[in-house]
Amino acid sequence: MLILRHSDVTTVLDSSDEAVCQAIRTAYVAHCRRETSVPHSVFLRFPNDTSNRIIALPAYVGGDRPVASLKWIASFPGNIQHDQERASAAILLNSVVDGTPVALLEGSVISARRTAASAAIAAAVLTADAPDYVRAGVSLIGCGVINHEVLRFLRGQLPRLRRVTLFDLDADRARAFAGRVADQWPDLEVDIGGGIDAALAAHRIVSIATTAATPHTSTEPCQPGTVLLHLSLRDLTPESILAATNVVDDADHVCRAGTSLDLAQQAVGHRGFITAEIGDLLTERASLPYDPTATVVFSPFGLGALDATLAAHVYDTATELDFGVRVADFLSDRSSRREGNVGR
Ligand SMILES: NC(=O)c1ccc[n+]([C@@H]2O[C@H](COP(=O)([O-])OP(=O)(O)OC[C@H]3O[C@@H](n4cnc5c(N)ncnc54)[C@H](O)[C@@H]3O)[C@@H](O)[C@H]2O)c1
Repeated sequence: MLILRHSDVTTVLDSSDEAVCQAIRTAYVAHCRRETSVPHSVFLRFPNDTSNRIIALPAYVGGDRPVASLKWIASFPGNIQHDQERASAAILLNSVVDGTPVALLEGSVISARRTAASAAIAAAVLTADAPDYVRAGVSLIGCGVINHEVLRFLRGQLPRLRRVTLFDLDADRARAFAGRVADQWPDLEVDIGGGIDAALAAHRIVSIATTAATPHTSTEPCQPGTVLLHLSLRDLTPESILAATNVVDDADHVCRAGTSLDLAQQAVGHRGFITAEIGDLLTERASLPYDPTATVVFSPFGLGALDATLAAHVYDTATELDFGVRVADFLSDRSSRREGNVGR
C-alpha cells in the first residue's frame, strides 16, 4: 500500500496544470464512449443535521490506463468559522488486476483541482468562438477553495483573462480572496462588486461555488451571452434552469439530490431542458456554437471518473518519483502475491 500525503499530491499537481486538464478530458471522453462505470454517489448524512455530509464516489475508467477508485469526501461547512477547510477527502485506488487496494491518497486537492479544471475546460469549450471580450473577465460568486482553483485553471484555459469580480456573503472572505489573488497573480484586476446581482452582471463568464443548500438567485441579472459555471449546483432557481441552455456532465447524476436541475425536472416532469453533455461537446458528437443572446449554464455533478483519472496520474507520477510512504505488509501475504501489480 502506498500512502500519498497532502504534500506528495500537491507537489505532483503543482507542476502540471496541463496534465490535470488532460486527465479530466480523458475522463469525460471515456465517459462519453461508455468506457466508465460510475454508480451514483452515496450521501451519508447525520440525524438532525442538514449541513454536514460525507459522500462516497466509486468509479472505474477504462482505456489505456484503467483505474478503479473510491473517493470519500466530507463537507462540513462550519469548519471555515474555525479557519479549517470545509472539505476533506481520501481516495482509495484498487488494482484492476486483482482488486486489491494499492494506494491511499489525500483527496482534497485532487477533488478541488478536478472540479476547477472541468469548469475551466467547459468555459473554454462554451466560449471557443466567442468574441475576445467574453473571455476577458470572470465573476466568482463564493470566495472559497473551489473558486480559487477555478481562477487558476481559467487562467490556463483563457489566456486573455484580465478582470475578476468577487462576491461572497461573507465580505471578509471576499477581501481575503482578493488579497491572495493580488499576491499570486498581480496581472489580474480584481474588484469586490456590490451585491450578487452586480457580480452576475459584471462579466459574461460567472463561476458559482457557494455552500447554498437551496436556490437563492436567478440568472436575470446576467448579460445576454453569459456562461455560468454552476459548480455548487443548488444556487439557481428552477425557473432559471428551465429558461437556460443547459450543459451537464451526466444527466442521470445531476438530476438528483436536490440540485437545481433536479428541482427543474420535478417541476416539468422531464429532462428536455438539458441540451448537451460536456463529453459530447469535447468529442464533437454535439456542438454548441456561442450564442450572444443565450444564457448557458454548465452544471457538473462531479463524476467519480474525474477523481479516478487524476488520482491515477498522481499515483503514476509519485511512483516514478518515489514519493509517499509504503506500507509493505498492509495486506495479508495471500492477498498481495500477484506479480506486476502496480496499481492497474
Ligand atoms: N460540482 C462539483 O463537482 C463540485 C466539486 C467540489 C465542490 N463543489 C461545491 O463547491 C462549493 C464550494 O466549495 P468550497 O470548497 O469552495 O467551499 P468553501 O466553504 O471554501 O467556500 C464557499 C464560500 O461560499 C460562500 N457562500 C455561501 N453561501 C453563499 C451565497 N449564497 N452567496 C455567496 N457566497 C456564499 C461562503 O461564505 C464561502 O466563502 C460547495 O458547495 C461544494 O459542494 C462542487
